[in-house]
Amino acid sequence: MEFKIAVMPGDGIGQEVIREAVRALEAVGKKYGHTFHCQYADVGGIAIDRHGTPLPEETMALAKGSDAVLFGAVGGPKWDDPKVRVRPEEGLLTLRKGLGLFANLRPIKVYPRLMEVSPIKRQVLQNTDLVVVRELTGGLYFGRPKRRWQTSKGRRGVDTMSYSEAEIERILRVGFELARSRRKRLTSVDKANILETSRLWREVAMEVAKEYPDVALDHLLVDTCAMQLIMNPSRFDVIVAENTFGDILTDEAAVLAGSMGMLPSASLAGIPSGGRALGLYEPVHGTAPDIAGRGIANPLAAILSVALMLRYSLSLAEEAQALEAAVAKAIDLGSKTADLALPGEMALGTKRMTDKVLERLEQQGTSVPT
Ligand code: IPM
Ligand code: MG
Repeated sequence: MEFKIAVMPGDGIGQEVIREAVRALEAVGKKYGHTFHCQYADVGGIAIDRHGTPLPEETMALAKGSDAVLFGAVGGPKWDDPKVRVRPEEGLLTLRKGLGLFANLRPIKVYPRLMEVSPIKRQVLQNTDLVVVRELTGGLYFGRPKRRWQTSKGRRGVDTMSYSEAEIERILRVGFELARSRRKRLTSVDKANILETSRLWREVAMEVAKEYPDVALDHLLVDTCAMQLIMNPSRFDVIVAENTFGDILTDEAAVLAGSMGMLPSASLAGIPSGGRALGLYEPVHGTAPDIAGRGIANPLAAILSVALMLRYSLSLAEEAQALEAAVAKAIDLGSKTADLALPGEMALGTKRMTDKVLERLEQQGTSVPT
C-alpha cells in the first residue's frame, strides 16, 4: 500500500528523533511492502525564523492532504520571551484545533527492564499499563477571553476554562470505547468540588456511562488522581481528563515509564477504530533544549508514535505491533539511551538506539504477505 505522510520535525530534539522515526517507518515499509511518501514541512520556532509564522499555510495544507502527520516538538529558549507575540507552541495548537484532533491518547507502558530507572519502587510499578485520554481542543488552552492587560492597579491576565456538553460527551465516548477494548475500567478526572466545567463533565460522564454498562466508571478529583498515579498506578486502565489536567498528569505519568523519552501520543479526530482517520503523532517529551543537537536524545517515544500512526491512521495493526515488539525486545536486551542508563551503564546515542530497534525488527518473522 502507499501512504502520504506529512513530517514536521519542529525544534530542538524534534529534528533528531523524527529523523530516526522516519527510518523506522521506512524499515516497516521495506519489510511489509508499503511505500510511505514523506513530505516535510516547517512548524514551530523554525517556521517563525523562516516564514515569520509558527504554522505556514503550506504546512497546514500538507497536513490536510496527508494520511497522517508525524510531529516532533516545538519551542525553545530562543522563542521563549513572554513579551513576544508569536510563539512556536501556537503552531501546534492551531494544527490540533484546525484538524479537529480533540482526542489525545497517551499510553503509559512500564517495561520490566526500565522499572529500576523510575524513581518509583518496583512493587508499585508492577502491572502498570494505562492510557490517558486527554481532551485536546478545549478548556484553558482555547477558551476566550484569553488576554493580558494593564489596569490602574497593575497588570492583569485571564484565561477561560470552558466546555460544551458536546465536547465533553465526545471525549468521554473515546474513553469508554478504549476502555471497552482493554480492561473495561474508566477513570474520569475532574475538579467537581470547585469548577463548574467539572460538574458538567461529571454529569455528562454519568449520562454517557449508561450506554456502557460493561465498563466500570469511577470519578477522581484531579489532585487525588495525581497522588494515586504515583502511589497506586496499577489501579488505572483508561483515564479521561480535560486538556490542562491531561497535560499535567501525563508528564507525571511519564515518571512511571522511567523517562519522558518513552511516551508516544496519538491525536485523533474521532474514536480510534483502527480505521483510516487523519491523526497527528508526536512524542510527549518536547524539544529538550538542554540536550538538543548532541545526538543523545531517546528516539523511542517518536518510534512508538510511528507505531500508533500505523495502527490508528494507516490500518496497519500488524506492522504497529511488530514495531512495538522490536522496541520492547531492544529494551529487553539492555539497549538504553542516556535518559534510561543507570550510573555505570553504557548509553547509546539516538541513531545507535534506533539501529538496535531496527535490527530486532528485521529479525522478526512476518505473517503479512509482502
Ligand atoms: C504537550 C505539550 C504541549 C501542550 C505544548 C508544547 C503546547 O506540553 O503536548 O503535552 O501543552 O499541549
Ligand atoms: Mg505537556
